[in-house]
Amino acid sequence: MSAPENTRILLGITGGIAAYKSAELVRRLVADGCEVEVAMTEAACSFITPVTLQALSGRPVWTDLWDDRARGAMAHIELVRGRSLMLVAPATADFIARLATGQADDLLSTAALARDCPLAVAPAMNRQMWEHPATRRNVERLRGDGVEIWGPDEGDQACGETGMGRMLEPERLAEFVARALRPRLLNGLRVLVTAGPTFERIDAVRGITNQSSGKMGYAVARAAWEAGAEVTLVSGPTALVPPPVARVVQVESAQQMASAVNAFVPDIDIFVSVAAVADYHVLNPSEQKIKKDAHILTLELAPNTDILAAVAALADPPYCVGFAAESENLDEFAEAKRRRKRLPLLAANLVQEAFGVDDNALVLFDDEGRHPLPRASKLEQARQLIAHIARRYQPA
Ligand code: PMT
Repeated sequence: MSAPENTRILLGITGGIAAYKSAELVRRLVADGCEVEVAMTEAACSFITPVTLQALSGRPVWTDLWDDRARGAMAHIELVRGRSLMLVAPATADFIARLATGQADDLLSTAALARDCPLAVAPAMNRQMWEHPATRRNVERLRGDGVEIWGPDEGDQACGETGMGRMLEPERLAEFVARALRPRLLNGLRVLVTAGPTFERIDAVRGITNQSSGKMGYAVARAAWEAGAEVTLVSGPTALVPPPVARVVQVESAQQMASAVNAFVPDIDIFVSVAAVADYHVLNPSEQKIKKDAHILTLELAPNTDILAAVAALADPPYCVGFAAESENLDEFAEAKRRRKRLPLLAANLVQEAFGVDDNALVLFDDEGRHPLPRASKLEQARQLIAHIARRYQPA
């Protein structure tokens, strides 16, 4: 993610089996450029040793309220000052209960009370403990106190049962951390993003598609989510895990994508059309697999609706952002496309540099001119695009 400079995170670990995943979380956060200080409860040390966390964070781990590193100050105060975020992962039912009632009888619970930074917890417990009215009550109380609750997830549990209560995977938690550290540039706005290719059926097993991987569109959806938007992602077929946005709608053909977009358009503020939508579909696709024979096979193709142009032409359109993939004359073709589709903003990229790869170089075109974004990861490009949208967007 590449964290903002001087990001200092306090990671609290409490005593649950998911504590082993905290090691990977520390590794990821450090790789992302965060300084991570780890504090563990006594029970957590029964699941994973402080030495492991020390090796991964590169800093001695705090386990004791009376730690003499505090040098005259108090450990719980020393720990929380100057932090960007305090995250407790895993957070057991017991820790959540103690937090909800404001108890302060060990290093972590005391630090949580003494902090002046945001606090997030990643619950991890047996499904029945999670569903117990006492836990529900405690979680709601924490929410009311402004504590962010990240997860839990549903799935197989260490106890052999299946249900809600798994700690979010470290990769997902790292995404939540990235979001917590970024400005809420689109707070409360509803953003619709299309991503990936479409697949136009020829017969039961064959179809026409393109080389879009979905990476750019998924990055835009994630960047909008990080910026505080309520994001709907309409995706063609990809191999990617979607970001934790409000809703994800999987579609196959351009026609299905158009229907999904049209269903959401009345309730959105911003539409970002990143998908590489097929311009044509096959007339009369075969229900069965077409048999090979000696004759030339001719496919009849009919044009698809231009989803973006249709949305932009509405009487009261959302703020529409198009993408243009060009193989030559990028500026000229992209600006012509922007004007033809009547878009306030268009992001252009070169076909040969953008499809399938992890980084990209976008040039943004709007009424004020041309704004090149230097080559970077698709997530960084998406964040810059979202910042540009936030500067230009004007509520109707
Ligand atoms: O998915 P990746 O591998 O990460 O690659 C990213 C990308 C190259 C696909 C992406 O950056 C990109 O350029 N997307 C737009 C590709 C495209 O189809 O461009 P276009 O010039 O054909 O279409 C222009 C705009 O109209 C696009 O916003 C497109 O979503 C939209 N469109 C096009 C045709 C159609 N029938 N309906 C549409 O909405």
